[in-house]
Amino acid sequence: MYKNIVIIGASGTIGAAFVKYFAINNASAQVFAFSQSEVVNKHDGVAYHHMQYDDEKSISESASKLPAGNIIDLVIVATGVLHDGNVKPEKSMRELNYNNMQHVFAANTFFPALVAKHFLPKLLINDRAVFACLSARVGSISDDHLGGWFTYRASKAALNMFIKNIAIEFCRFHKKAIVVGLHPGTVISGLSQPYSTRIAPEKLFTADKSVAFLVDVMASLSPDNSGNCYAWDGKEIPF
Ligand SMILES: NC(=O)c1ccc[n+]([C@@H]2O[C@H](COP(=O)([O-])OP(=O)(O)OC[C@H]3O[C@@H](n4cnc5c(N)ncnc54)[C@H](OP(=O)(O)O)[C@@H]3O)[C@@H](O)[C@H]2O)c1
Repeated sequence: MYKNIVIIGASGTIGAAFVKYFAINNASAQVFAFSQSEVVNKHDGVAYHHMQYDDEKSISESASKLPAGNIIDLVIVATGVLHDGNVKPEKSMRELNYNNMQHVFAANTFFPALVAKHFLPKLLINDRAVFACLSARVGSISDDHLGGWFTYRASKAALNMFIKNIAIEFCRFHKKAIVVGLHPGTVISGLSQPYSTRIAPEKLFTADKSVAFLVDVMASLSPDNSGNCYAWDGKEIPF
């Protein structure tokens, strides 16, 4: 059981399901939920805070809203962008666009890395603590046999590299810390909605189901797993 939990991206589909899971199943924990958009369905006992994702000052101030000291034993970064507004995953390199690439990398790569910078110093020092970012299987370079989705894939591959590097540096002195990426499966959400029609129903998860899987995966991990990316079924995803 966790005691002090941070969920970043609490207004997203999977982020909200994480908040709900811990509010119900780990009710003795204090949950700190951060989001850019207002959370619609709030849970009693959860401390909700606003965070501006594209502003490092806001990320840093968010970390300072946590109680003093090294008290956090779980951080989940559940944010990410595949499409929004004018941005769509590219079918061809002809669709690459500088502004769109910058937007997706800022969301999927720069933001989680800066969250690590400002929130890892809040983790427990001599006890088990987990820092997990939602990545994606399509960020695996060795698993890319289809092509397409250039910027989303590349931003998640780069996120995986940040996770690896951050794990090497942080876990050198925090021997019980676990820093990983997680692939939630294909989950029914606004992010997946335009692309999930061809997915077999048994491979399409509700956010609640994915979160229950991911909670089990995190429980099974040890510090030796730091730096890697794990799928909802506990299997390591090769880089
Ligand atoms: N759904 C899937 O099938 C699937 C599969 C593989 C991986 N994932 C990963 O799981 C994570 C969550 O996805 P989801 O399905 O829950 O999507 P979602 O419902 O669309 O939620 C997206 C989240 O990303 C945040 N966000 C929006 N714009 C952002 C920006 N510019 N910078 C940083 N964050 C931004 C949103 O925060 P606000 O609402 O506060 O703006 C929200 O928390 C993502 O990292 C995604 O890549 C999902």
